[in-house]
Amino acid sequence: MPLHVLRHPLAAHILTHLRDRTTRPATFRTLAYQLSLMLTLEATRDITTEEKSIETPLEPLQSHVLASPPLVVISILRAGLSMVPPFTDLFPDVAVGYIGLERNHETARARSYYCKLPPLGGRHVFVVDPMLATGGSASQALDVVKQHGATDVRFVCIVSSPEGIAAVENAHAGMRIHTAALDQALNAKKYIVPGLGDFGDRLYGT
Ligand code: PRP
Ligand code: URA
Repeated sequence: MPLHVLRHPLAAHILTHLRDRTTRPATFRTLAYQLSLMLTLEATRDITTEEKSIETPLEPLQSHVLASPPLVVISILRAGLSMVPPFTDLFPDVAVGYIGLERNHETARARSYYCKLPPLGGRHVFVVDPMLATGGSASQALDVVKQHGATDVRFVCIVSSPEGIAAVENAHAGMRIHTAALDQALNAKKYIVPGLGDFGDRLYGT
């Protein structure tokens, strides 16, 4: 499976502070933005461009711009919201979709509570959620975006587990995954270890 793990000294530095239990929500949000921006650049490295003729102040030039239709980023609520701003900052025409999923703390199974998606056919679609633990939420969200017509889909996360990667691979063979970290395993409560705890709680101070 195309698994892309972000390798950059700055990413390692940011991740260390994100993982640190003493990091407060305001700093956590800034760090999540910075790391998501690096992931966004990696995940969009091969998006389509088209030729455009312009004139520089010195001479005519055949150059390149982003092709239309614009990208789509889909946030798995709630923690995925932290990964949307780099897309909207870098790609002003990006369309944004939302899928609301909440993991039951006892069973670790995700319950769907919301879905609002733009047209997905023929577009580069990026599903974002910082944590890929059991892979249940990601697999469910990827089912939904495929049912809505997406064919070119990538999953972007900050911390992943081997179990989560395997689950997505089983349910969605060939899915391209971008992650900033591939951790050791899940613990008995299905939290990623070493991980960083509950991302949504740390992001929003809940
Ligand atoms: C977290 C996380 C993922 C999910 C990962 O969300 O943001 O969506 O858990 O776990 P999984 O791979 O085992 O499905 P959570 O359900 O805690 O909701 P939240 O974003 O509202 O905090
Ligand atoms: N969701 C989180 O926020 N963290 C984990 O470790 C697992 C699921």
